[in-house]
Amino acid sequence: MTTNIHTTFDKIYDRRKKEEFLNQRSKVIWFTGLSGSGKTTLASGLERLLFKKGHFCQVLDGDNIRSGINNNLTFTEDDRRENIRRIAEVCKLYLNSGVITLCAFISPTNEIRDMAREIIGEEDFLEIHVNTPIEICEERDVKGLYAKARQGKIPNFTGISSPFEAPISPFYRIDTSKQEAEKAVEMLFEKVGEEISW
Ligand code: PPS
Ligand code: MG
Repeated sequence: MTTNIHTTFDKIYDRRKKEEFLNQRSKVIWFTGLSGSGKTTLASGLERLLFKKGHFCQVLDGDNIRSGINNNLTFTEDDRRENIRRIAEVCKLYLNSGVITLCAFISPTNEIRDMAREIIGEEDFLEIHVNTPIEICEERDVKGLYAKARQGKIPNFTGISSPFEAPISPFYRIDTSKQEAEKAVEMLFEKVGEEISW
């Protein structure tokens, strides 16, 4: 697949210069959790707070990415893996631009997240498990997807007809049914603060 391809770039030097320019260390803050668990809310809330504090970030979100760059992918295991592989590669580009990337993807299995971690690099991958229980996600059902999935109208729906494995030792865990989003974002900011500062 990569025959006759010769990649060239001075990763460390370029990245370092860009990080210095932006006065931050680039990282990937990776939110994983069920549909409706609060990934998008937390990622965009954290982005706003980071911006306020002078950081330069970019949110990558499942629904948006799947409407654009990944609009040819379904929710089979293979397509989810390909979805996350492409996203992780995009994250790597952002990392080398000095940007903090906030990713909100179900990324349902340890294997899929390990792949992302490997592409991105262990030291730059901050995994946040949004572990809101499925009963609460289903009760919220903001997009009406759980109701449709229960009626058998959505194949491979995470938590119902497709698996979700909780990460074993994430960087941080948040249950949005126990924690107000605003408070959770502040706690997250505290937690990631030292990772993104010099
Ligand atoms: S994955 O598993 O990481 O590839 O999924 P992701 O790219 O994050 O996309 C999740 C969003 O797609 C919508 N949706 C579904 N989710 C789960 N299972 C099925 N079958 C499905 N079909 C559509 C849904 O809006 C998800 O967004 P969130 O924000 O998670 O609710
Ligand atoms: Mg979302």
